[in-house]
This record gives sequence, structure tokens and C-alpha cells, in this order.
Amino acid sequence: MNVRHTKQILVVNGKGGCGKTTIATNLAAAYACRGHSVVLKDQDHQASSSHWHAQRNPGLPAITLVESHQRSAMYETRAFQTRSLVTSDYVIIDSPSVFGDLHFGELLKNMDAIIVPILPSPFDIRASSRFLAELLTHRNYRARPIPVCVVANRVTQNSSGHEKLKHFLKCLDVPGVATLHDMALYTNMAEQGTGIMDSCNKNLGEQDIAQWQALLGWLDSQLSDQQISPASKGPKSASRRDSAFKFTVKA
Ligand SMILES: Nc1ncnc2c1ncn2[C@@H]1O[C@H](COP(=O)(O)OP(=O)(O)OP(=O)(O)O)[C@@H](O)[C@H]1O
Ligand SMILES: [Mg+2]
Repeated sequence: MNVRHTKQILVVNGKGGCGKTTIATNLAAAYACRGHSVVLKDQDHQASSSHWHAQRNPGLPAITLVESHQRSAMYETRAFQTRSLVTSDYVIIDSPSVFGDLHFGELLKNMDAIIVPILPSPFDIRASSRFLAELLTHRNYRARPIPVCVVANRVTQNSSGHEKLKHFLKCLDVPGVATLHDMALYTNMAEQGTGIMDSCNKNLGEQDIAQWQALLGWLDSQLSDQQISPASKGPKSASRRDSAFKFTVKA
């Protein structure tokens, strides 16, 4: 049976610095840790995901990098990239904030889920609301609507911005599925090519792990129409365990 099983997850927001690369790289590492074959597709000329990948210790679960922002001169490289994109379990796309000649509509094609990171600041909420409106009314999205969620990023305790973000999400038909705290660890991981689920990052609070499991659980539930089995003998039960985590922005 030849069933398309690759799941493509787009991390996107037209607002810069909201955490697209942080979420894309952590997600790629999380799926690799689960035993899945993963492609991290870097669409951004800034090449932050590519830099992260270059720092990654070869002893950690493998992630294939596809640098889509570069025009490859070598046929072999293009062929390898195309093969990787269709044979992997997950393709995580880190997108730029300024699309330039990369057409936004093209980016939406063939996606299975979209994650929009938003920082809890008035400027970011305002810019992100415009971006979400653009996304949800885009011709290509409306032709094939797919699950979209928001991740509140760099949230500090008692932040009034977070309250505003929660209020904003209540007015939208888009779920806020996870809240990531502002932590220096994310910057360290960016420099080291690691992710929160990598075994080397043990010093995390239960709450922070639970938020990532909430995001993974949401993705599992939205992408569950086609069963994805880990390529290796990775812990298949993890996806079931993760999907037990529930989180709402009202919490
Ligand atoms: N939860 C967090 N806690 C602390 N630092 C964070 C967090 N999320 C992101 N950062 C830091 O904020 C900066 C911007 O994050 P990131 O590069 O992921 O955003 P981006 O949306 O990809 O930016 P760009 O639009 O430039 O591509 C980085 O230095 C990153 O390490
Ligand atoms: Mg980025």
C-alpha cells in the first residue's frame, strides 16, 4: 500500500523574532527523539535553523537538514533533498518573517498543520492578528483548510501581555495550545544544536516539559488520520502518552 505518510508542519508568523526557529528546531529534535525520521527545512535566508543543525552533536538523534533558502547547484543535492522530503515521517518548516520572492501561498501548499508563535506584547499581538487574518483568509488556505494553532512564547510570570494574548485568542477560532516560558536555556540550546527533548537537556521544570507535550499532543491529535510509525524502534507509545496531556489557554 502506497500511502503518503509524511506530515508537513509549518512554523510561521510575519512578525520577526517571535520564536519560529526556536519552535521548529525543538519540534524537529522532539520528533527525532521519538524515533521518527525528520527533515528540518530552512526557508529563511538568515539560516538560523541551518546554523542550529550545524552545531548538533552527531551522537544525538539525527535530523536531515534541507536548506531551501539556498539554490542548490548540484543535481545530486536536489535529488537527495527531494527524496528526504517524501520519505521522512515529519518535515518541519522554519519560515522567514519577510517572504520576499518566496510566495506565501506557495508555502501553504501541502502543509498538514500550522504553528503560529506569538510573543505576549501589544506590538506582537497586533502584528500577529493581521498575520492570522491574512493566513486564514488566504485563497490557498481556504481551498484546503488545515489545523492552525498558536503557541504563546517567552511568557514571563504575571505578564499582563499574556493576559491580553489569552483574551485575543478567545476572540479567535484558533486554539492556543502551549505556553513557553522565557528561559535562557532556549538561547543555549540554539547555540548547541539541541532541543528540549534531547537527553542532554535534563534541567527542565515539569511545567516546561508539559507545555511541549501539549503541543506534541495537539499535533498528534490533528495529524492522527494517518498512523505514523517511528522509522526506528523508537518509543511508539510516547505519542499515546503525550496525547493524554491537555492544555487550554484558560488554565
Ligand atoms: N522561550 C524563549 N525563552 C528565551 N529566549 C527565547 C525563547 N524563544 C526564543 N528565544 C530567543 O529569541 C530570539 C528570537 O527567537 P527565534 O530566532 O526563534 O525567532 P524567529 O521568529 O525565528 O526570528 P526571525 O523572524 O528572525 O527568524 C532568539 O535569540 C531565541 O534564542
Ligand atoms: Mg528564524
